[in-house]
Amino acid sequence: MNSILIRADAYARSLGLSAPIMLAPMAGVPAPALSIETAKAGGMGACGVLFMQPKEIADWVEQFRTAGVSAFQLNTWTPQPAPSRDAAQEKRIREFLNRWGPEVAEGAGDSTPPDFNAQCEAMLAARPTAISSIMGLFPPDYVRRMKEAGVKWFATATTVAEAKAAQAAGADAVIAQGAEAGGHRGAFDAACAAPSMAGLFALLPSIVDAVDVPVIAAGGVADGRGVAAALALGASAVMIGTGFLRCPEAGLPSSWADALADAQPDDTIVTRAFSGRPGRSLATLYARAAEAADAPSPAPYPVQRGLTAPMRAEAARDNDVSRMQAWAGQAARLAPARPAARVVEDLWRSAQDILG
Ligand SMILES: Cc1cc2nc3c(=O)[nH]c(=O)nc-3n(C[C@H](O)[C@H](O)[C@H](O)COP(=O)(O)O)c2cc1C
Repeated sequence: MNSILIRADAYARSLGLSAPIMLAPMAGVPAPALSIETAKAGGMGACGVLFMQPKEIADWVEQFRTAGVSAFQLNTWTPQPAPSRDAAQEKRIREFLNRWGPEVAEGAGDSTPPDFNAQCEAMLAARPTAISSIMGLFPPDYVRRMKEAGVKWFATATTVAEAKAAQAAGADAVIAQGAEAGGHRGAFDAACAAPSMAGLFALLPSIVDAVDVPVIAAGGVADGRGVAAALALGASAVMIGTGFLRCPEAGLPSSWADALADAQPDDTIVTRAFSGRPGRSLATLYARAAEAADAPSPAPYPVQRGLTAPMRAEAARDNDVSRMQAWAGQAARLAPARPAARVVEDLWRSAQDILG
């Protein structure tokens, strides 16, 4: 085995894995079966708990463990600054959204995600292999308690400065999230998320050179070539989101899953149009219209998320990808429509073949 494979193999084994392949946490796509099958094949399962209450988190973990698997991470966003509200702007957004879905109620922008501290307690009580952060760093006291409990902290970073800050705060590993990634960009400062768009090929070795902790590569990896490249660039493991979305266990609406198969890298865009925070989605009819010069500028997170909820719910019910929150990374086209365990096995076997 060469030094690249030795590093990846050793890191995987230190986490109880037999392959350095991690399912990315994806809020809104909880699908325990996707994590269970990933873990059965030797990878790491994941649950993004952002929209889940403590009881739902505990239930997810119980379902995962009942299947006889153990390696998983839980993930949530660190708290975001309170949004500044602009009633006139929100009215313009509601009027715009009324053309795309059901009428948006006046108070729709008031909804907030579940309580961060309660989620943190539920995640720690579950004793996962790791808890991962995105959008910022966990509070020092929580980091101390994670370490006492033997739970690893994976911290998402989109820049070298964020990676260094995460290491200084005690992160056990840094997730280098390239601009290719599907879903929200993890920049600590929302205002930097769209202007600062380092791709994984440049970001990953820069972070590897800047920190001493293991680095996990995320963004635009969806086949063995990508896994091999990320490991060759210094990653100790690879975290994949979009590349698992077409697995039957993900339970994605079929129009979204089908559109992923046809999407070239430039068929995705980073937009605030769904939640108010920049995230990469398919360049759907709604996303493009909301990005057009004559469209009202989106409200901040989570106000925009509340305002778009009726349209998103109707789109999901109607299996209409044109109005769906169809997150997608730039490698969407490579996502295989195969069972998750096969995907993990194929990714790792193919990467090992390439790396010799
Ligand atoms: C549908 C979807 C939901 C996501 N939700 C989260 C989340 O809740 N927390 C998080 O840290 N990252 C989230 N991400 C980002 C992933 O963790 C990861 O960075 C990304 O999927 C990697 O890029 P890829 O999609 O090209 O593989 C999400 C990604 C997708 C596609």
